[in-house]
Amino acid sequence: FRTAAETAWRVLESGGSELDAVERGCGQCEIDQCDGSVGYGGSPDESGETTLDAMIMDGNTMEVGAVADLRRVKNAIGVARKVIEYTKHTLLVGESASLFAVRMGFPYEDLTTQKSLSLFSEWLNRSCQPNYWKVQCSDGNKTFDCSGLTSFPVLFSCGFNAKSAGSNKASKVCVLFSTVHCRRVGDSPIAGAGSYADSTAGGAAATGDGDIMMRFLPSYQAVEYMRMGTDPTVACQKVISRIQKYAPKFFGAIVCANTTGSYGAACNKIPGFTQFHFMVSNPLLSQPTEQVVDCI
Ligand SMILES: *[C@@H]1O[C@H](CO)[C@@H](O)[C@H](O)[C@H]1NC(C)=O
Ligand SMILES: *[C@@H]1O[C@H](CO)[C@@H](O)[C@H](O)[C@H]1NC(C)=O
Ligand SMILES: *[C@@H]1O[C@H](CO)[C@@H](O)[C@H](O)[C@H]1NC(C)=O
Repeated sequence: FRTAAETAWRVLESGGSELDAVERGCGQCEIDQCDGSVGYGGSPDESGETTLDAMIMDGNTMEVGAVADLRRVKNAIGVARKVIEYTKHTLLVGESASLFAVRMGFPYEDLTTQKSLSLFSEWLNRSCQPNYWKVQCSDGNKTFDCSGLTSFPVLFSCGFNAKSAGSNKASKVCVLFSTVHCRRVGDSPIAGAGSYADSTAGGAAATGDGDIMMRFLPSYQAVEYMRMGTDPTVACQKVISRIQKYAPKFFGAIVCANTTGSYGAACNKIPGFTQFHFMVSNPLLSQPTEQVVDCI
């Protein structure tokens, strides 16, 4: 995310704090929507809504401000910053996070775009595939993937994937789930998962399948390796290897930087994802420079 890196670096060069740089850099991604995976109009959930997560961490004081499942507010990283400045909390969620944002002066805005609407309708048209359910449902005769279905009207408008013979037991499970609306939180707002910073050891940030990665606190782990003197690239690789043992096909990458400015990255090699690109800014470079690592 070149523009985000440029924005953050410019803040530092003009004397802004590290927190300012992180806030403005991430905020730039929220405005630009970066690759479509950040900010409004991205990855709609199974009801078609885009919700945002964000976290900012101060590696000097170890304060963290984070929001998860934030709705109708675009500048999630800005709200996270306010959590540090105006509260003794660490993580605000859902409607409460939105209310907090409004009290802090952020406007309510629609996070839906033509893009997110069409992503959502294409997904419905694909019988809600892919999705994050493990449960199989049955109409009595056929089993089918529960397809992220949250209610029966949705269920039948989605249609289903006919599989083998049905089971009434699975059917009951489906009914049970029909009242559940998943409010999913990713790894980004979880300290130590999406990112971590400790000014005495280093900083790390992870990207990829947060549902898998957050189980390993990869950013915390990487910072702890660097605290022990491990080279940042090696720290990143060790973290990726740890996850690989349990989830060989996970999609993910991590960047690591130590306190003397050395940095590295690592990623898990899977079909279609064999290299990871990241941006580097430092006083020796006239502009942010893209770097690439081969996944392991
Ligand atoms: C749904 O998908 C089918 C092909 O699988 C396509 O013909 C149809 O136009 C799509 N409908 C919408 C609303 O996207
Ligand atoms: C299951 O199959 C039977 C026999 O073909 C049929 O009478 C019944 O309506 C089917 N049930 C559903 C829910 O489709
Ligand atoms: C940071 O990493 C570099 C490269 O491995 C290493 O030479 C340096 O000593 C590290 N800094 C600290 C404070 O560990």
